[in-house]
Amino acid sequence: MTVGVSRLKVDDEEFLVASMIDRCPKLMMLRELMQNAFEAAALAPPGRQRVVVDTIPIDGIRKLRIWNSGPGMDEPQLYRMCDLSSSIGKLKGLDQHFGLGAKVASLPSNHLGMRYRSCHQGLVHEMVIGKRDGIYGRVKRSPRPDLVLPGTYQLVDIVEVTEAAQEEGRDLSEDWTEVVLFGMRPEQDTAEDPYDGDPPMRRYWLPLSLYNRFFRIPDGIDVLVAPDFHWHSDLRRFVPLASRALTDFRGYEAVRTDEGPRIHYFYDPTCPQRPWENASSEGAIQTAIGQVGIVHRDEIYGLTSGSPWAYDAPNFGITFGAGNISVLIELPDDYPALPDSYRQSLHHQRGDQAQLTPHEFAALVRAYRPQWLIDQIDAIGGPSSAGAGIIKQLGALSDVLGLDALPDTAIVGGEAAPTDLAAKPGATQIAQARQTCGFDIILLRDEQDINNRWLLGRAACFYPATKQLFVNTHYKSIAAARKMLGEMLADVAEDGSLYAYIDEVTVDCLVKRVGRALLFGISKHLDHKNWHSGHIEKAMSPEALSIAADDLYDVLPWAEQEVRKRITSGDRSISETTMQPAAVNRRTEKKVTAPGGKKARGDDARRRT
Ligand SMILES: Nc1ncnc2c1ncn2[C@@H]1O[C@H](COP(=O)(O)OP(=O)(O)OP(=O)(O)O)[C@@H](O)[C@H]1O
Ligand SMILES: [Mg+2]
Repeated sequence: MTVGVSRLKVDDEEFLVASMIDRCPKLMMLRELMQNAFEAAALAPPGRQRVVVDTIPIDGIRKLRIWNSGPGMDEPQLYRMCDLSSSIGKLKGLDQHFGLGAKVASLPSNHLGMRYRSCHQGLVHEMVIGKRDGIYGRVKRSPRPDLVLPGTYQLVDIVEVTEAAQEEGRDLSEDWTEVVLFGMRPEQDTAEDPYDGDPPMRRYWLPLSLYNRFFRIPDGIDVLVAPDFHWHSDLRRFVPLASRALTDFRGYEAVRTDEGPRIHYFYDPTCPQRPWENASSEGAIQTAIGQVGIVHRDEIYGLTSGSPWAYDAPNFGITFGAGNISVLIELPDDYPALPDSYRQSLHHQRGDQAQLTPHEFAALVRAYRPQWLIDQIDAIGGPSSAGAGIIKQLGALSDVLGLDALPDTAIVGGEAAPTDLAAKPGATQIAQARQTCGFDIILLRDEQDINNRWLLGRAACFYPATKQLFVNTHYKSIAAARKMLGEMLADVAEDGSLYAYIDEVTVDCLVKRVGRALLFGISKHLDHKNWHSGHIEKAMSPEALSIAADDLYDVLPWAEQEVRKRITSGDRSISETTMQPAAVNRRTEKKVTAPGGKKARGDDARRRT
């Protein structure tokens, strides 16, 4: 029996190199360059671990420069470092270093070149890598004239530039390395436009990109960012989120879960002076908004903010206030997850190796919410439940449809719900778990909030996991019904209260239509032979519920009678609220509530637009 293999080789090396570089997502460039800088700086003596991000003019044009202390490279090392799969002094491995990072991520956006200078033991060498005539490589250049022997002139890959570095004021008593990005064209300002317009970057892109990627950086490293990249006038320290959590947020708590992940909850009220961002941005070099993401080995993946986060947030128990609440799910180091080969996204190590998303942890985040956060969410939302009369009517329909017989897990889609309905025999019956109709009805009255949740133009959105039905009280059929009811009730003397009654009854009509449609949608679970989860999802979608809400005409006669009845009895049913979501179990590791309300500086307010 033979053992061994004949090794596989690369048949077309040039193609392999070019394809690895050209397939790399461009936006990984900053991460890779900074990561190299952190890794080297961490090896410098304590107190001298520094990374400086600034610019230098090359032929009068600003070019981005990243400088770091720590072991530099001599000439042979500098030469070697730009080959693919070349790591110097680092461990190679699938979850360690690939020896690809910086070169592969930066070359697609720097055909003109990226200039490496490294100082090792007082000698500085320089090399430019770029793309010439369609080939990536070290850019050939003239040698130093004093080193050329007569008749031996030839272009070189690396030149020694110790004197030039000294003239520029560089300290040669310690090792360091710097990278300057030339970009694609000589006239490209790579500080402002690192990707030559594809994609265009927002003005203060650099500190925000760092903040959104590096949750922690190694202790002791000072990262300084020049004013070219933020709105302050001097060199500022970059402080990652983990280091600001305890001091710069109104509320913060990290909770260790039994399941492994540690969940970081942040509350960050809106900045009064700059309502487009949150208060923790005060004095910082980057903006702040509510977001959700996963932390793996100190780096953030799958970050989502804005409307996508506001839309998904109820699944995480963030019923209100997604713009002010951030959640980061930190995975243990041994969690079976691996970044993709370009470190852009995080994937399950096993099975189909699908991308890991924060949504997978929604139930965990919801279950471990600290009480102060639950109180904060309730305070942001305020009382918003539907009238008790309508809920009772929906409850009656729920009984008729036999929804009591439906296990809780049947309607919970999306988040690790068992597919076998019998798998959880003791599951709560939906009609007992919530309001008498089986779900919470939350009326949305703030137009901005409705817009943030992608509900403008849609009547309602149902969250099976939390059994919450959000209803848009600004939905367009409300205005039409209001007008028609006004005409039907023209005989009633308007003493200022008629339209108040009409308004509450039209909202009741909307809730009734949407709630009934939803109950019929849920009841399709009972017909599981003919209705599968995808079909039922469609039946309960915001689109389907909106169509149901369009047809308010049908309930107008009831609405007219209801208004007359309420006028006669003086009954304002909308004030009868229903029960709030039940408290959840939680375990707290530590909790700190930082003092808030610091004053914003005027110049910040002016510049950050
Ligand atoms: N800023 C720097 N300071 C000091 N050494 C550096 C710097 N950048 C790169 N190097 C050296 O060049 C080598 C190659 O860097 P590159 O980013 O391509 O791969 P890597 O960091 O080893 O692996 P990976 O990026 O895949 O984790 C590094 O191992 C390191 O020794
Ligand atoms: Mg690297």
